[in-house]
Amino acid sequence: MLKAIEVKPDVYWVGGVDWNERSFHGYTTERGSTYNAYLIMDEKIALVDTCKAAFADDLLARVADVVDPARIDYIVSNHGEPDHSGALPKVAAAAPNAKVVTGDPKGAAILRAYYGDGLDLLPVKTGDGLELGCRTLSFVQTPMVHWPDNMVAYDAYDRILFSNDAFGQHLATSKRFDDEVGLPEVLLQARKYYANIVMPYGRQVRKALDALRGLDLDLIAPSHGVIWRSHIADALAAYDRWSADAPEDQAVVAYDSMWHTTEAMAQAIAEGFVESGVPVRLCDLKCNHISDIMADVLEAKYLAVGSPTLNSGMMPTVAQFLCYLKGLAPRNRVGIAFGSYGWAPAGPNEVQAALEAAKLELPLEPLTRQWADDEEALQAVRDAVIDLVEDQGDVREVA
Ligand code: FEO
Repeated sequence: MLKAIEVKPDVYWVGGVDWNERSFHGYTTERGSTYNAYLIMDEKIALVDTCKAAFADDLLARVADVVDPARIDYIVSNHGEPDHSGALPKVAAAAPNAKVVTGDPKGAAILRAYYGDGLDLLPVKTGDGLELGCRTLSFVQTPMVHWPDNMVAYDAYDRILFSNDAFGQHLATSKRFDDEVGLPEVLLQARKYYANIVMPYGRQVRKALDALRGLDLDLIAPSHGVIWRSHIADALAAYDRWSADAPEDQAVVAYDSMWHTTEAMAQAIAEGFVESGVPVRLCDLKCNHISDIMADVLEAKYLAVGSPTLNSGMMPTVAQFLCYLKGLAPRNRVGIAFGSYGWAPAGPNEVQAALEAAKLELPLEPLTRQWADDEEALQAVRDAVIDLVEDQGDVREVA
């Protein structure tokens, strides 16, 4: 029988563990995910969030380990995306007296759009409280972190922030707390999560952080991954850093190549960064997933993207990456387009245009090479990168 896990006296994790999830709308989730829900047993009984529809029975079984689901008074829906609300119709049917607490007006509108008018909705705004007994849940709307309806709930009695997607990680585990998994792994997954889901909304994240600053926190309980308990300061510092859009002096070189000429240029660009003291990651798009590359782009100031000309344009692998990059909208990055060609530099020119459309700063014209490279040409590429880094004021002593 599935068990509830007590995370504070009378507060239980009752979510689902999705061990085999490997693609979250295109983001590779190599460690699976969890859909966390929390049961609060007070004079009134509240369930904070539900889960994906496929995990509704797991959730109800874990609730039943503590209490008859029919006794639930409130179901808090912090966010209507189906990974947190898909189970709502089934859970609401099992808890027929429960009101569904949701953001006013966007949360209510999304739940009605997905599930019709059958739910007994209780819309709330920032500053509203829901009295449960000893506890009062206080709501803060955090729009566009990362949908218009997002909100978080704070329980001052237990000092728990139910943060929904914020501070989440796609990480399936039988452990429930950060210190049981280890900070490096949790931060790695939180970084990939932020880069691929939250990055376009850095300004909104900063507003949300401002609204949450000063809260006493024993736990940050997100809707994915493990609960932050021992490393709350690390989680807050990471979100502060990532949302500042002030990337470190690191570089990512992403490319595809047909006959290794663009690849040789990529390596020369990487060497230029290394010679300038800028840490670099080289990513062949044939064997690196775009969602993994974005985790590095999150912390990199420089992004060089290369494609040869194929069929009068850039290679599809490169186009896919650039389309994804534009959507995630990293700010304050310096771009370099490069690539080889036979009779027309259409590939690297398309890369340049796509980087411009993604609003990267582009101090250089595309670095191109016709047919094959020789050492002189590759040295010119290295020198162009070294000069660029010097112009940006980022040259460091190489140890
Ligand atoms: Fe985890 Fe935006 O849903």
